[in-house]
Amino acid sequence: MKNFTSESLRETYLSFFESKGHKRIPSASLIPENDPTVLFTTAGMHPLVPYLLGEKHPAGVRLTDVQKCVRTGDIEEVGDDKHCTFFEMLGNWSLGDYFKKEMIPWSFEFLTSPEYLGIPVGELAVSVFEGEGAIPRDEEAAELWKKCGVKPENIYYLPRSANWWGPAGLTGPCGPDTEMHIIRKPKCSPECNPSCDCGAFMEVWNDVFMQYNKTENGDYEPLSQKNVDTGMGLERTLCIMTGAKTVYDTDLFETAIKELEALTGKKYLESEEITKAYRIVLDHTRTATFLLGDVKGIVPSNTDQGYVLRRLIRRAVRFGRNLGLPEGGLNKLAACFVKKYENIYPELKENEQKIYAELSAEEAKFSKTLEGGLKEFNKVISHVPGNVFPGKTAFRLYDTFGFPFEITKELAEERGYTVDKEGYDKAFADHQAKSHAGSEQKFACGLADHKEETTRLHTATHLLHAALRKVLSEEVSQKGSNITEERLRFDFNFPRPMTAEEIKAVEDMVNEVIKQDIPVVMKEMSVDEAKEQNFLGLFASKYGEVVKTYSIGDFSREICGGPHAEKTGDLGTFKITKEQSSSAGIRRIKAVLQK
Ligand code: ALA
Repeated sequence: MKNFTSESLRETYLSFFESKGHKRIPSASLIPENDPTVLFTTAGMHPLVPYLLGEKHPAGVRLTDVQKCVRTGDIEEVGDDKHCTFFEMLGNWSLGDYFKKEMIPWSFEFLTSPEYLGIPVGELAVSVFEGEGAIPRDEEAAELWKKCGVKPENIYYLPRSANWWGPAGLTGPCGPDTEMHIIRKPKCSPECNPSCDCGAFMEVWNDVFMQYNKTENGDYEPLSQKNVDTGMGLERTLCIMTGAKTVYDTDLFETAIKELEALTGKKYLESEEITKAYRIVLDHTRTATFLLGDVKGIVPSNTDQGYVLRRLIRRAVRFGRNLGLPEGGLNKLAACFVKKYENIYPELKENEQKIYAELSAEEAKFSKTLEGGLKEFNKVISHVPGNVFPGKTAFRLYDTFGFPFEITKELAEERGYTVDKEGYDKAFADHQAKSHAGSEQKFACGLADHKEETTRLHTATHLLHAALRKVLSEEVSQKGSNITEERLRFDFNFPRPMTAEEIKAVEDMVNEVIKQDIPVVMKEMSVDEAKEQNFLGLFASKYGEVVKTYSIGDFSREICGGPHAEKTGDLGTFKITKEQSSSAGIRRIKAVLQK
């Protein structure tokens, strides 16, 4: 097998598909454009959904790219040798053009030809869809593999759980797939197959035959065009091709590991604990670098993508501390990643200064938190009777000081205490239950009570939200709301202070709608219907859930728990009393209704 670097592997893949008539397209943003059901781009096909559904792509019907992806579902697992929060996916697409009989021979050629990956045919196993209901067993795919030369005993028929892909969000294109695996060692039993996790097989590539669209009510309807969507994990394939044991042992991390060794004086792989800390710091810093450097760059915050980013940076700082990484160290690592990736992702270079500024700001903020937590810890531990540190106190340190449980545990153990983990978990669960109630409150649009004054201000909040989107940008969305009897307070994303003209324009627009005395109309519908009809709101709720929606003519549409004024004429005169910064990238407006 040929030896590869990350650079040569990307290039080999893309130029192979160029030779098959594909156009190379750049990676899309990590923030999905058309899918409010997920926070990040999770697969190469994700940004292409409209084209898989039939829209014309400007580059044609055959595309290839390397797409940056983020999956943070298993953030706590990072530190082992498998889990990463960032990865790149090599892929190629047929938008209603070629299908199985072209794709399977191409896959075979790319995997086995000495000109490309050069994997021996005997080491290749494939799985195909075994069929379900009206969708037949994929004999066509199996025959094509056989014709290429894959040994029949290395072809497996597997169920939906293994050989069906998609959709990327809750709805969208999906279909049966055929997966390609490298045979690593003998099977663990006669029944062992590529979906077994004994390590006998390692998945390398997935060809999805996208012929269905999963609809909101869970049906699979045939797509107007048959597509191919393939995905090959760059990191995983690089490991296979270079013999690296983990992604951290590939060239992608080489300079960052050297830098981390120089900064901390500790050697990677020195001990289990150090290795884990290394991987967490490296993975999280790389992902944070990509999120901050994205064209739709986000900054650390307490909501959505910004919150994930904040967690990543803070976890990196925390484990960096364990390694003795000095403050400012994350920037040095980020610089290694910018350099390593800038040729493929020029946005990293373009946003380099922003990456460093945000990283160090968050690092500084969290370092203070850690210090505050330490002080408090030292204070409380002197009052703990016996040798069990109470779980409730550990939770308070976490909740109030952002002091992670692991640190409390470590420090307590150093002093001969154990920590009541159960008590901590219970306090945590109680808090979750409360903050769940809190998020319902958020659904009720931040309303403190239902008095008439607050109800009127609540309706004014909807008008304000709509007006901001019309005057400033469609990108504006609510980040927080709080209403008292005297005033409303509204937080939203916007990168700079509003001008006096903009404030006036928003006030005028709201007052104009008030003057028109438009009725406020409530209707219940499913989240998906609401989404379809362009109601604004939190779409993170459960699939199929029924929500209340409020519309004010064509002017405003929001998912919201209510209550509201009956008509806009009841509101009085709307006046913005303050426009200020709330946190990075977030503005805060306070406004009143005058009689
Ligand atoms: N969309 C397919 C995957 O992510 C190719 O595996």
